[in-house]
Amino acid sequence: MLLANYLRQCGVDLDLQSVILRIAQGSVELCSRVDNNAAVTVGEENLSGDEQIKLDVLADAIFTGVLQGEKVVYALVSEEKDDQELVNEEGRFTVAFDPLDGSSLVAANFSVGSIFAIYEAKGAIGVTGADLAAGIYCLYGPKTMLVFAIGDKIASFTMHKGEYYLEKNDLRIADTTKYFAPGNLKAVNYNLNYGKLVDYWISHDYKLRYSGGMVPDIHHMLYKGDGVFAYPGMTDQPNGKLRLLYECIPMAKIVEAAGGFSTDGEQSILTKKVESLHQRTTFCVGSKAEVDRYIELQV
Ligand code: AHG
Ligand code: MN
Ligand code: MN
Repeated sequence: MLLANYLRQCGVDLDLQSVILRIAQGSVELCSRVDNNAAVTVGEENLSGDEQIKLDVLADAIFTGVLQGEKVVYALVSEEKDDQELVNEEGRFTVAFDPLDGSSLVAANFSVGSIFAIYEAKGAIGVTGADLAAGIYCLYGPKTMLVFAIGDKIASFTMHKGEYYLEKNDLRIADTTKYFAPGNLKAVNYNLNYGKLVDYWISHDYKLRYSGGMVPDIHHMLYKGDGVFAYPGMTDQPNGKLRLLYECIPMAKIVEAAGGFSTDGEQSILTKKVESLHQRTTFCVGSKAEVDRYIELQV
């Protein structure tokens, strides 16, 4: 079933349907425009201090372009832009996005993604996961896929000839797992509790599944039915690296809709209030028993 038909069949709010279909359209365009120069650096850094590559800039321009044409959008926030951009004063939604997650993996042709958080709010400051109308990611790998969570509904779609078709709507994450994805592994040298957690996983024969791209790393747990992904902080980077507004909240929403859990070590990522657009947060997400272990060990 086509994405548009599925959204209609599920009775998704019409305005939200339009925004999701714009995002799908953007991802189709992005796939058609990737070329040999994708990983060339452009000599600029974004606000977070990451070096931009041509594909970051292209992805940002494409998704900004499609979403600017959508009158139900109040404002846009992109990882690649310092400030929020007003689209329509009358709009209902603020769409925050990471146009290309995993830029540093593009040169090596690893899987990468795009992440979107559609908030029912006029502006991003002060929102929490409770304001999220939908969390979405696109995954560019052997297959191009789109996964969304709306309320407690989660569904995945595969792109074929420029259209997304329903693949699964029964994705679940079990409470226990033997897969682990330890982001920021060097932090074990400074954050000794993270070292204890990683030692536990290794000494109990857990299987490593880590690509360095959060979208494929989290997608792995949805498709295997269990797993845990962590990106903790350390002394000189207490809040880790990942951004709350447009990386962690939408990914946590998708995982929680599938029955998993999320935390920053103290509270669910979905209850954490956004205080600044590019705010970072520590993050652990996945099977309940492992998210609990992360909290208990005070990583
Ligand atoms: P981005 O490419 O948008 O900057 O984010 C990449 C993220 C995420 O996908 C991954 O889990 C993490 O950065 C990896 O970080 P390290 O650079 O610490 O490996
Ligand atoms: Mn990212
Ligand atoms: Mn990015």
